[in-house]
Amino acid sequence: MPVPVAPHRWPLLGHTPAMLTQRAKFTDALYEHADVVRLDLGPLHAYFVTDPALTHEVLVAQASKFRKGAMFDKFQPYLGTGLLLSNGEFHLRQRRMMQPAFHRERLEGYATTMARAASALTERWQPGEVRVVENDMQELAVTIVGEALFSTEMGKRAVAEVRRSIFTVIQQGMIRALSPSFVEKLPIPGNREFDAAIARMKAVVLQVIESWRADGTDHGDVLSMLLLAQENGVGMTDQQTYDEVLTLLTAGIETTAIALAWALYEVGRDPEIERRLHAEVDSVVGDRPVTFADVAALPYTGRIVQETLRKYPIWFVMRRTLGEVRLGDVVLPEGAEVIVSPHALHHDPRFFPDPRRFSPDRWTPEFTAGLPRGAFVPFGGGNRQCLGNTFAQTEIVITLATVAARWRLLPTRPARVKFTSAPYPNGLFMKAVPRN
Ligand code: HEM
Repeated sequence: MPVPVAPHRWPLLGHTPAMLTQRAKFTDALYEHADVVRLDLGPLHAYFVTDPALTHEVLVAQASKFRKGAMFDKFQPYLGTGLLLSNGEFHLRQRRMMQPAFHRERLEGYATTMARAASALTERWQPGEVRVVENDMQELAVTIVGEALFSTEMGKRAVAEVRRSIFTVIQQGMIRALSPSFVEKLPIPGNREFDAAIARMKAVVLQVIESWRADGTDHGDVLSMLLLAQENGVGMTDQQTYDEVLTLLTAGIETTAIALAWALYEVGRDPEIERRLHAEVDSVVGDRPVTFADVAALPYTGRIVQETLRKYPIWFVMRRTLGEVRLGDVVLPEGAEVIVSPHALHHDPRFFPDPRRFSPDRWTPEFTAGLPRGAFVPFGGGNRQCLGNTFAQTEIVITLATVAARWRLLPTRPARVKFTSAPYPNGLFMKAVPRN
């Protein structure tokens, strides 16, 4: 069956103007046209999947027929063969070696770091002060992932360097992903800063790896697990370990910071949600630090996190077909670019009534059970599902509970959004008011 072409197509430029000017507003409405819609990104034909069942086909059921798609190619020069970009057998091997670093027993240790970092941040707030919440959450997220990766004395230098450099890498990396390739070769300040930040981080991460190899023991951090992991007696090279470290930093900081900031904003602007959150945290946690065991005992907080991940997910991910692939009535040729959009799926009113409304209460057990597979995919799915999903959810619950135990954060003006690869908060000014 021929694939319908999306509306708002320009000669030569195709749908690029609609994508750049309307962003998710354009792609969220594509489900009205068909289950698979063609988008022309300049000369590139891409197939945008709007149907949850077909999304499940791409991410899970037929995942082995795809590799990572065009948007990921741009990250290759600096993320190398890290987990986000690698494909096939090599990806599976790396994934098996890295997964244990995110197992439950390890998370308990990281949870202590999360609670400590969240407390330290909130202790610096002054009563009545207006905070720029997305900046606070970026700082918190970088501290948490940095300290989970590197826990040794030597690792402290790496954490400091990550704090200094990672946002340059993430922001410039995104500009590169959205620009034509020649832009990254221009001798402009952004490119020089990017190259310098990468060089500094690489130097310090390689030093930490070298010092780890000299003692070879498990320090309880992610780096130890990466370096101890072996398959058939073979571990990772220093270069591969570095690629994985940079991948974890790139994938794990900004994504979580966005969710944290929006969760606090949504709580702060709805007195009823705030009241119920406070009641739950007061009864379960009280004055002591939040622990890993508390996470399971805070169901309402968990629903706030779930709803945040629904409303504010990443815009889309891409895949490329390795051969002919059938998706419902459509047969895609080899080499076709496929787009799956968590944002579009999560704002589809057929599955999420009144999708722009923030409603933790929609997540009843019946609603969750009735949701079709592929309709809620904040972390993707299948064997490319986010490696840090439980880490991130734990971090958000612990932070919300830590803040809620002592502070109210009240928005002083409506939020502004800057939509790039996700709905980024752009000026969440919130007043910190002590609870008692
Ligand atoms: C709320 C926070 C987060 C969100 C929304 C998120 C989202 C995602 C999504 C959608 C993917 C799949 C990409 C694709 O299918 O092409 C992914 C992959 C990945 N994420 Fe996350 N992520 C988050 C936090 C984290 C954290 C905290 C870490 C690590 C510390 C992490 C590490 C990774 C890695 C390594 C992959 C690649 C997995 C693979 O391909 O095998 N993420 N993430």
